[in-house]
Amino acid sequence: MREPILEVIDISYSYKTERGPIPVLKDISFKVYQREFVSIVAPTGTGKTTLLRIIAGLRRPDSGKVLLMGEEVKAPTPKLAMIFQDFALFPWLTALENVELALLHRRDLSKEVRREVARKYLALVGLEGFENYYPRELSGGMKQRVAIARALAAQPVVLLMDEPFANLDAITAEGLRAEIYDMVFHEESTVKAVVMVSHNLEEVVELSDRVLVLGGRPARVIAEVDIKLPRPRNTRDPEFQDYLDRLYSLLSMSLKV
Ligand SMILES: Nc1ncnc2c1ncn2[C@@H]1O[C@H](COP(=O)(O)OP(=O)(O)O)[C@@H](O)[C@H]1O
Ligand SMILES: [Mg+2]
Repeated sequence: MREPILEVIDISYSYKTERGPIPVLKDISFKVYQREFVSIVAPTGTGKTTLLRIIAGLRRPDSGKVLLMGEEVKAPTPKLAMIFQDFALFPWLTALENVELALLHRRDLSKEVRREVARKYLALVGLEGFENYYPRELSGGMKQRVAIARALAAQPVVLLMDEPFANLDAITAEGLRAEIYDMVFHEESTVKAVVMVSHNLEEVVELSDRVLVLGGRPARVIAEVDIKLPRPRNTRDPEFQDYLDRLYSLLSMSLKV
């Protein structure tokens, strides 16, 4: 039997506020297997970022647990890398230095080797020649590429992405979407599985092997859809549109549960 790379088991979470707890997630469970790209889709404010931060070990759930290759995640670990909607680069560091940061925990590598590894991942995301640029000198798409290089350079097992295209203009987002799957599952990448959260159905159908729809308050998994389309995917393909329609109706249902 195939062992899951990532297991999310019965995660529940409430924010504790002065006016009492606000339940956000209720008994969320799913498994992610080798070379799977799984997306979690729900409207803004549902709890996607909260869930991703729990998976990353940045927040402890009230109940339930997350297993990474059978081991419970209790704190942030380099085995789980995250990409954020706002890129989260350090403005005072160059592209190369931002990527090198991901390697600081690698005490086994010399500074020179860390630099070489960072260069290699910057090249993988198409930024050869931009090593010494500062984030302010790069476009949004290039900044997100630096963030992807930084995540891959950490040599994680699972890559977590929180609305990675949300802050890019449509054309830039389209270009990066077309490339990101091959970047994260490139032979130089250690990534075995990806979990992306998004409210954008088109990007979810374009990229995912499987989509989980969250709905309700607190949010639960209300549907799961396998996307069986060959890659690369064409958004104008009628089958692509069928998947979009199906997810749209599930998502509108999710607003009513
Ligand atoms: N620090 C917080 N304190 C209280 N409520 C919060 C906090 N962060 C988020 N929330 C609430 O939790 C819900 C889910 O937030 P979030 O995980 O950011 O959703 P999403 O990423 O799907 O937009 C939202 O309704 C938000 O208002
Ligand atoms: Mg969010």
